[in-house]
Amino acid sequence: MEEARAEAVIAPADEPDRPLIEGILRNTGLFKDSEIQVALEILDVYLYQDGQEDYQFYMASTDGRVAGYVCFGPNAVTEGTFELYWIAVDPLFQGRSVGRKLMEKAEKEALGRGGRMMCVETSSRDDYEPTRSFYQHLGYGAEARVADYYAPGDDKIIFVKRF
Ligand SMILES: CC(C)(COP(=O)(O)OP(=O)(O)OC[C@H]1O[C@@H](n2cnc3c(N)ncnc32)[C@H](O)[C@@H]1OP(=O)(O)O)[C@@H](O)C(=O)NCCC(=O)NCCS
Repeated sequence: MEEARAEAVIAPADEPDRPLIEGILRNTGLFKDSEIQVALEILDVYLYQDGQEDYQFYMASTDGRVAGYVCFGPNAVTEGTFELYWIAVDPLFQGRSVGRKLMEKAEKEALGRGGRMMCVETSSRDDYEPTRSFYQHLGYGAEARVADYYAPGDDKIIFVKRF
């Protein structure tokens, strides 16, 4: 018989989530130290800069355990374009619709704030293939590619979903 699994609960991130977010980023095994540093710098803006509206962070918990998080926000120099800056699900919880729920939350919030589209940038590397498939599965199209952006042979691909 298949094990019953609780649906992920989504809630805004708070200070105690900081080490948990760092743990999730490390556990994925995908991100370099410099990338984790940037992810935490953005988190600190969200946590400690009063009145900022550039970044929103949401946590996903399953059975009371933190499973993943998403970070997104409006691009201030556009009219209604939102950026999905980061999404990560702990490997223990991947493949259980946690990522989908986080993406749906980000899209709903963006739409509620007048968003027209969500953009997400990712790498062309082989180890990002599952990530690209995930975005495509959720209705994102690869609309642009910048060759050698991250490193020689490592292109940036911009995925877009229009609401
Ligand atoms: C990418 C990631 C966020 C996906 O999260 P997840 O919780 O494992 O994904 P879900 O279980 O919610 O999958 C949602 C849907 O996408 C589909 N999907 C997931 N990975 C897929 C893949 N590699 N190929 C095709 N479809 C895929 C699932 O089948 C599911 O479909 P359904 O809802 O119609 O049944 C997660 O794997 C992760 O954290 N990866 C490492 C970090 C990363 O790449 N972050 C993004 C770069 S910033």
